[in-house]
Amino acid sequence: MDSIRVKGNGSLKGEIPIAGAKNACLTLMPATLLSEEPLTLTNAPRLSDIATMTQLLQSLGAEVSGLQEGQVIAMSSHGPINPVADYDIVRKMRASNLVLGPLLAREGRAVVSLPGGCAIGARPMDLHIHGLEALGAEIDLRDGYLHAKARKGLKGAKIELRVASVGATENIVMAATLAKGTTILKNAAREPEIVDLVQCLRAMGAQIEGEGTGTITIQGVDRLHGATHRVVADRIELGTYMLAPAIAGGEVELLGGRRDLVGAFSDKLEEAGVEVTETAKGIKVSRKNGRVRSVNVRTEVFPGFPTDLQAQMMALMCTADGVAELEETIFENRFMHAPELMRMGAEIEVHGGTARVRGVKSLKGAPVMATDLRASVSLILAGLAAKGETLVSRVYHLDRGYEHVVGKLRGVGAEIERIKS
Ligand code: EPZ
Repeated sequence: MDSIRVKGNGSLKGEIPIAGAKNACLTLMPATLLSEEPLTLTNAPRLSDIATMTQLLQSLGAEVSGLQEGQVIAMSSHGPINPVADYDIVRKMRASNLVLGPLLAREGRAVVSLPGGCAIGARPMDLHIHGLEALGAEIDLRDGYLHAKARKGLKGAKIELRVASVGATENIVMAATLAKGTTILKNAAREPEIVDLVQCLRAMGAQIEGEGTGTITIQGVDRLHGATHRVVADRIELGTYMLAPAIAGGEVELLGGRRDLVGAFSDKLEEAGVEVTETAKGIKVSRKNGRVRSVNVRTEVFPGFPTDLQAQMMALMCTADGVAELEETIFENRFMHAPELMRMGAEIEVHGGTARVRGVKSLKGAPVMATDLRASVSLILAGLAAKGETLVSRVYHLDRGYEHVVGKLRGVGAEIERIKS
């Protein structure tokens, strides 16, 4: 298992290009099952999660190929579809469950393994099941698999989500595009990845409105045609790299970044004393005058502060001047980066869903272990500001969501290298 060695090396300067969004791509790819015509995605990120989704779709019978070193994904599912998503693939990535809605809409049946728990929480699927049953599917859980069928096809329905779940919204919207009649989805998730999915489905001929608001209305159609769609920029990668100059000092421009994708997060950075400026090429972030201020953070569904940036923000608060409270309201176990940051001298107390962080003048480099995708990158950020050398092990977590992290940070002056093992 590879490691990444990073040495605090003073302030950063330069540009970092932002890739296409992993969490948009992971819901756009299953949409190929909704049409027999080709669906092509451009600006796709090169990540191991995308390779896993490729493997899953191919196992279902879709043709998926990565062109231009993976930046273009050409898909087509005109052949017979095998509607069984195998545990071996699904257990590696929860987002595999996003084939459930498209398979039901296309084939009228699906057998999808439950993803099983993951490091950050139990991550049940009751909201996906509730929504798809409302559309007329019969779903039962047997031997760890969801067995779903819609013998008479799917019918539009009024659905209200208990929680504005991203994945449940995506599964329900995709299934409803081919249902008979109108579906009104209330308390729908509003994340930019949902907006991106709807824009792609609309290009395929779907009739949908309200994306980005809490109510999405879908008028079912008989069939969808092919399309070519550019994946939206990755707001979590963007926020992560905005924190690099914030924690290490200096000035970095994030190419392709858009402030509307990271509104609440940018507001928090500015509250902490970091400068955030929109430019013609993206977003420029700079911190030149000493330590940032401690700020309180509460994660919420979009447009609130994203849970996927909580671990990274904690790294910054470890070096801030004061005491910060970070409240995690989306997942039940998303502070596993805290003990690792404490090995670097951070002062953190975790009580249930809240972490209290007292900033220290400087962190000290140490060997630490990545536990999940976003926790692993928070350790890299901490290493950028720490005195001495930090060695982050199990970086396969990183490869799931960050392409070329070493190259991108070296490009702005960080002393960082990947150690193959
Ligand atoms: C998506 O996961 C993202 N993944 C996650 O990013 C992100 O953290 C999460 O949304 C929240 O923004 C992808 O898009 C591939 P949810 P998802 O359904 O859809 C509960 C990353 O780091 N819930 O919005 O699985 C659930 O347990 C990943 O890139 C139910 O109770 O998240 C959680 O507490 C991590 N029942 C809350 O809702 C359900 O049926 C939000 O989950 C579904 C969810």
